Amino acid sequence: MEIPADFWLGAATAAYQIEGGAKEGGRGTSIWDVFSHQPGTTDRGDTGDVACDHYHRYESDIALMKDLGLDAYRFSISWPRLFPNGSGRINTDGVDFYRRILEGLQEASIRPVVTLYHWDLPQKLQDNGGWMNRDTAFRFAEYADAVFHRLGESVQLFITLNEPWCSSVLGHVTGEHAPGVQDYSSALAASHHLLLAHGTAVQAFRESGLDNAKIGLTNVLTQVRPASQTADDTSAAVKADVLLNRWFLNPVLRGNYPDLLHQLGIHQVTRQGDTDIISLPIDFLGVNYYHSVFVRNDPDNPLTGFAMFESGDERTDMGWGVDAKGLYEVITRVAADYGPLPIYITENGAAFEDHLNAGVIDDPKRIAYIRSHLAEVLHARADGVDVRGYFVWSLMDNFEWAKGYSKRFGLYYVDYETQERFPKASANWYRDVITTRHLK
Ligand code: FCB
Repeated sequence: MEIPADFWLGAATAAYQIEGGAKEGGRGTSIWDVFSHQPGTTDRGDTGDVACDHYHRYESDIALMKDLGLDAYRFSISWPRLFPNGSGRINTDGVDFYRRILEGLQEASIRPVVTLYHWDLPQKLQDNGGWMNRDTAFRFAEYADAVFHRLGESVQLFITLNEPWCSSVLGHVTGEHAPGVQDYSSALAASHHLLLAHGTAVQAFRESGLDNAKIGLTNVLTQVRPASQTADDTSAAVKADVLLNRWFLNPVLRGNYPDLLHQLGIHQVTRQGDTDIISLPIDFLGVNYYHSVFVRNDPDNPLTGFAMFESGDERTDMGWGVDAKGLYEVITRVAADYGPLPIYITENGAAFEDHLNAGVIDDPKRIAYIRSHLAEVLHARADGVDVRGYFVWSLMDNFEWAKGYSKRFGLYYVDYETQERFPKASANWYRDVITTRHLK
């Protein structure tokens, strides 16, 4: 299968997952610093204090990207590295750090794709309610504006938020992620304020006059299928689709919340004019895709009324079912329901157990996963979906949130004792795909 010359092949990371240097260069504390240091929140008590030490090793990491031949690299900026207190005084050391990364990428001819918020909210803002507080949206717009003005010149794509679904649901309903809140009405408030933050940042971007870059939002999308064709299961699947996908698609791309969100009480936090801001036109949609689910009606579930099961026979190390077709379906459906609009697959990849044997890591399952998913993306493109790029999650093994360092997603294996990086077989395979622009 040929890969069109203008289709970007990239890899992705996020600040808290790779940088470390948690107390260096004037960086403030984020909610993930606080959360991961609380006992029982992450596997083996892992934290991002050191992570992959990318803060000190960014130059050699860019050399790895160059060696792979990446067309583009997606990374995130740590808000507390720029604004240690969340707002107010800007930390110029932080700005300089990202400027050096951008310069390094430019020298390596790799297009920078910058996520403004990949979950590391400054703790100072959390102390005032974090995303549950409407004010945070406006602090985000100030931070975004500073990034546009100080670092925007060479950036190709800006992503306002990474997966606001996760920030809302994992951060405020299940409490598996920072800030560890377990309260469903707080999650509704957080979700709305996150979307408002997105919209106000888009507004700031348009006013910044940056014309080299484009701006969008990244949602995690999960393909939903009813477990059976009974009316109960099909309507449960429709509901699950709203709660997993449309909650964060409709307000941005249609200017309104799905009815179910009104029934759940979203109007308690919305104000007149908010949806006009949230639905300001974006240039592209980022899609993160990992798996799909089957949904069965389940009256015993008091919160949602349904139960979800992984689909596919094979499972990754995260316990997620492997379903490449689901990626084709999800982007085809988004294009049909919300398009036309350019799409980038901003994350896709898999954790599998890796073993380092004399410097060699054989990871055929990861290769098979990436190959099958990338093939479906190219199919969708051939069938008319305007999908413009694909980013492997992740460039290297890193801090997988509540799972700590136990789950490895990287193309590069990281030996956390020595911080040495080793290309897995998947890295060599991906390099070959990028060089030949051919998917075998
Ligand atoms: C996504 C996150 C990313 C990574 C992958 C496995 O939800 O955006 O940071 O943890 O999952």
